[in-house]
Amino acid sequence: MEKIPAVGLGTWKALPGEVINAVKVAIDMGYRHFDCAYLYHNENEIGEAISSKIQEGVVKREELFVTSKLWCTHHSKSSVESACTKSLEALKLDYLDLYLIHWPMGFQSGDKDLPLDENGMVIPSDTNFLDTWEAMEDLVVTGLVKAIGVSNFNSEQLDMLLNKPNLRFKPLTNQIECHPYLTQEKLIHFCQDRDVCVTAYRPLGGSSKGVELMEDPVIQRIAKEHKKSPSQILIRFQIQRKVITIPKSVTPRHIQENIKVFDFELTEQDMNDLLALNKNLRLATLPISKNHKDYPFHIEY
Ligand SMILES: NC(=O)c1ccc[n+]([C@@H]2O[C@H](COP(=O)([O-])OP(=O)(O)OC[C@H]3O[C@@H](n4cnc5c(N)ncnc54)[C@H](OP(=O)(O)O)[C@@H]3O)[C@@H](O)[C@H]2O)c1
Repeated sequence: MEKIPAVGLGTWKALPGEVINAVKVAIDMGYRHFDCAYLYHNENEIGEAISSKIQEGVVKREELFVTSKLWCTHHSKSSVESACTKSLEALKLDYLDLYLIHWPMGFQSGDKDLPLDENGMVIPSDTNFLDTWEAMEDLVVTGLVKAIGVSNFNSEQLDMLLNKPNLRFKPLTNQIECHPYLTQEKLIHFCQDRDVCVTAYRPLGGSSKGVELMEDPVIQRIAKEHKKSPSQILIRFQIQRKVITIPKSVTPRHIQENIKVFDFELTEQDMNDLLALNKNLRLATLPISKNHKDYPFHIEY
């Protein structure tokens, strides 16, 4: 099984002009895991940064762990391979370490990432994620990807996938939103119990106004006690739960800070205090898709 490095660089909202330098700085600082997606429209620039660091001899391809994601408008079985190839071409790679189904929901195919009806709601496709998974499995067989996984799947959806007749490959990970305001204890337990590792996205609370996770007094106090930054506490929190995490940054100082998380340990009390901050506050809800048959957030976990 592929081993995913515990901390990776997130790249959502990393603008094409900023992300080249961010990825180069990250590689220089020891990052080996990059979380990308077709949807982020910056894979070309990430690929430029990666290939220039390989050419410089700073890193070898096989030392990197690069993830991309199949967008919802490409769920039909006949679209999966071409979507994957597009990401590979942009990233200038001949294989991905991991390819995820970005969301369990299929959207109408076409030019728009978010095809909307007259009410501003997303237009679904007639696909289902079990069929999409078969095309994902084919990518492993043909060698375009080393491993496959899912993202934003709830426990029932994951269960359906794991119990699918003739399953050829299990999902390596379920990438889900997770931070101390959305601790996801039940879903993490559910996944880990079934040998599906969890990857936490938005581990720092993202850049949403009004949700200043890093300013939370409990996180600030724990940071002071350990002489670390709030972001380092949030990342370490996931590491100690055996959850992989992918903080995004394009700021060199932050990129460096976010990977210096292997020289200290949170106490059991710290971990409990962080878990007690849970308020089931989901930031990534994609409300325009809430009428979709496969919308994942109508059940508890
Ligand atoms: N599968 C999915 O559906 C899904 C959804 C959302 C995200 N993701 C993935 O998860 C990654 C992370 O999530 P996210 O980007 O939403 O949010 P995040 O990583 O929780 O937060 C990113 C924000 O924190 C700031 N930041 C980073 N390091 C910092 C530090 N040390 N001190 C202070 N501020 C810091 C960044 O600004 P600077 O850039 O200026 O540092 C940025 O504004 C994404 O980039 C993407 O790869 C996946």
